[in-house]
Amino acid sequence: MASLLRAVNISKAFPGVQALADVNLHVERGEVVAVVGENGAGKSTLMKILAGVTTADSGMLEVDGRPVALRSVTEAEHLGIVLIHQELNLAGNLDIAGNIFLGREPTWGGVLGLIDHSRMHDDAAHITGRLGLLASPYAVVDTLSIGQQQLVEIARALSLQSRLLILDEPTSSLTESETALLFRVLSELTEQGISILYISHRLKEVEIIADRVVVLRDGKNAGDLVGDEIMHHAIVQRMVGRELKQFFQRHRPEAIAGVHPVVSVRGVRWSEQQKGIDFTIAPGEIVGMAGLMGSGRTELAETLFGVRRMVSGAVAIDGVTIPIRTPADAINAGIFLIPEDRRVQGLILVDTVKDNISLTQLSSLSRFGIVQGSQEDELAQAMCQQFNVRTPSTSQTVANLSGGNQQKVVLAKWLSRTPRLLIMDEPTRGIDVGAKSEIYALMDDLAEKGAAILMISSDLEEILGMSDRVLVMHDGDLAGQLRRNELSEQVIMHLATGGAAKT
Ligand SMILES: Nc1ncnc2c1ncn2[C@@H]1O[C@H](COP(=O)(O)OP(=O)(O)OP(=O)(O)O)[C@@H](O)[C@H]1O
Ligand SMILES: [Mg+2]
Repeated sequence: MASLLRAVNISKAFPGVQALADVNLHVERGEVVAVVGENGAGKSTLMKILAGVTTADSGMLEVDGRPVALRSVTEAEHLGIVLIHQELNLAGNLDIAGNIFLGREPTWGGVLGLIDHSRMHDDAAHITGRLGLLASPYAVVDTLSIGQQQLVEIARALSLQSRLLILDEPTSSLTESETALLFRVLSELTEQGISILYISHRLKEVEIIADRVVVLRDGKNAGDLVGDEIMHHAIVQRMVGRELKQFFQRHRPEAIAGVHPVVSVRGVRWSEQQKGIDFTIAPGEIVGMAGLMGSGRTELAETLFGVRRMVSGAVAIDGVTIPIRTPADAINAGIFLIPEDRRVQGLILVDTVKDNISLTQLSSLSRFGIVQGSQEDELAQAMCQQFNVRTPSTSQTVANLSGGNQQKVVLAKWLSRTPRLLIMDEPTRGIDVGAKSEIYALMDDLAEKGAAILMISSDLEEILGMSDRVLVMHDGDLAGQLRRNELSEQVIMHLATGGAAKT
């Protein structure tokens, strides 16, 4: 039997970048194929071509052995190919059913404009039930968690009789339990003969879910792995073309007794319901912050950075209490935040890479209010090199970079200054393994220079690998503090889910 989908010698160029060069890919019925590669390797571009979002410059696509031209998303959907984007694409103000059937609402007797709401909601409930989504089809999408929104997108794909579901980094914002549910759903779908193309930087997931792994490097095929060959180190080796010797680069200094903390947080609250948060971070210390989604980690970061109003409490930097009312107050005191939602908070997408990197530097780069163009460019080039940002030039518009490379620009923007306290909210989400390791090395470097780092992360491996000490949040308050020798996934999860701390 012919493959469900075959892509032959696909090439695609953008100004200054050959995003794909003669790439080949095939997907069989009921098969899960993972596509992996470094940031900018061409994964999303290839998926967009398969889903009719964009067209290739050359190459051929076949569905069921027949050549097809996919000139639009609708044409691809008619053939059963549905892409769920890296950034979800839902109408937040509509309800679940409205989103699933957007543009295809069932009507009364086929009369245009007369939507049969009860049928639409019944049909929606049927599909969401199949996916284990425990929300009413009348629930407005904005009120759902990211994981639930993901399931709504999958429900939409199923309602289109999808035969090939393409998921571009579906788990990057999901909790562990949402990820587990997604995997259960995906394996049920494959049992029904539906095929999955799965993109992820989480290689552990790839090991679990993939029947075959297709590796892209610099827009070219860099080998396929099947069955027993699908192992972390083999994947990494093909992705980056070398072995990564040390992944977590943390050189822990001897404990320095009696040093004054860089930061001390006392009774900080952003809501009346909280007890108040207390902690300190010593110079050179990397403190991990674990907790479930919604436990208040991001709110804490926002409060310390002056984006969210502090109801009560005090923050001192190097022993001096700093009133933090705005981000400018925080930045002046040396507190920087690398936000969780970088696309919204961290970048000006229509601006160039150069402008984005230098935005935080303007005071030091400008003389009499005029930005020195050449210095700006030098700094941007140096940072792009350090972080391996894949871009044809620093004058490229940020919106045109791949997802992970956009993230690296935000990191470069903040790490090009020397902070006293650096707060990183999910610093490596969506970032490839090689770049992750570079970021860890930079954190280690900053710590060595005496900065304090607060690293918020849902990636327990990262928390265990990088932290000198871990704070666990639960329900808006600190549930416990763990020293390095007390750390384990079990203890962290116990505290994060509301278990009592040992005393
Ligand atoms: N619309 C565009 N205009 C210009 N260049 C683009 C455009 N879309 C993608 N590119 C470039 O094509 C290359 C491949 O990008 P793509 O988004 O496919 O990477 P990716 O493998 O999905 O990376 P990531 O893991 O970071 O999401 C990158 O160099 C990117 O900058
Ligand atoms: Mg991508």
